[in-house]
Amino acid sequence: MTESGTVLITGPTRNLGRHAVLAMAGRPPGQRPDLLLVGRAGKDLTAVADEARARGARVHEIGCDLSRLSDVRAAAATARDLLATGTVRPLRGLIANAGVMSADTRQSSPDGYETTFAVNHLAHAQLIGGLLASFTAPARVVLLGSNTYHANVWRKLLHVAEAEWADPVELARPAPGGQAPSMTASGVAYSTAKLAILYYAHELQRRAGDGIAVSVFEPGWMPGTALGRGAPAAARAISRALGRVPGVSTPRRSGPLLAAIALDDTWAHLRDGAFVVKSTPTEVEPVAHDRARERRLWEATAELLERAGAPR
Ligand SMILES: NC(=O)c1ccc[n+]([C@@H]2O[C@H](COP(=O)([O-])OP(=O)(O)OC[C@H]3O[C@@H](n4cnc5c(N)ncnc54)[C@H](OP(=O)(O)O)[C@@H]3O)[C@@H](O)[C@H]2O)c1
Repeated sequence: MTESGTVLITGPTRNLGRHAVLAMAGRPPGQRPDLLLVGRAGKDLTAVADEARARGARVHEIGCDLSRLSDVRAAAATARDLLATGTVRPLRGLIANAGVMSADTRQSSPDGYETTFAVNHLAHAQLIGGLLASFTAPARVVLLGSNTYHANVWRKLLHVAEAEWADPVELARPAPGGQAPSMTASGVAYSTAKLAILYYAHELQRRAGDGIAVSVFEPGWMPGTALGRGAPAAARAISRALGRVPGVSTPRRSGPLLAAIALDDTWAHLRDGAFVVKSTPTEVEPVAHDRARERRLWEATAELLERAGAPR
């Protein structure tokens, strides 16, 4: 890590996020960042914070349900206060790790938005927007992508539906009440949210200025994490079984790789939403570069966030 500072991470409570936290906390003192852990308040958040402290890190827990945008605004305000008062070192990194694949796309967040889109994209856009002026250059924003954004072999094998782009205001709308929940609808929402993250990364880099480098990390397929917790039991059992296949990614293996993207000098050159699959920079498919969609996503996101902040 060139400059020591603070890294904020969302979704630190389990699997990939937890292992990234432990990897960062376990670095030697000169390379170990202060950590802001943004996750649902409770024993899991306390447990990972305690584990990180036991490794020597200075840690602050920021309780936040990312599906609730008022919580996200409050979390950004807390982080700004900790930075402004010098309670933690300058903000050099933000890892937008939290993710969800809602089993029922009719389900809406407290703000009325489809949950997968709300947590994966809107919450992070709100958080990053609220902290943009608080970063100290050189800083890194690492977003979490997934290869499911396009029609790849794994996605087909696992029957995760591919992205179906639409205007972001439509993507944020929960499915109509009469529509039965299905794995297809759930997969479409997840893959589309991950495509949105690539578009957002490209636009964020254009707007954030030179001091903030934006990249997108793909941890590899990690079967058996809580991501598919709402999926039918049979699908979860298959996923757990596949997790035992040698060579398949695991949070324990990919967490340190994510930490490295946020901290290591080797990755200081990443920017413009560069997509890294585990440790391999990878060219995204042409569908993931679209200036018109990227601009519209930025504008629509601002509208959706503003609408959620408006008094009801
Ligand atoms: N698993 C894979 O194969 C795979 C592949 C490619 C990309 N990814 C991406 O990698 C990231 C981590 O995935 P994972 O497999 O480690 O997922 P996971 O086991 O489901 O963990 C997700 C994390 O996000 C948090 N989270 C979800 N909804 C939240 C909310 N409303 N408020 C606050 N926190 C919330 C969870 O907190 P709680 O503990 O409170 O639920 C948890 O810490 C995700 O962005 C995922 O899309 C995963």
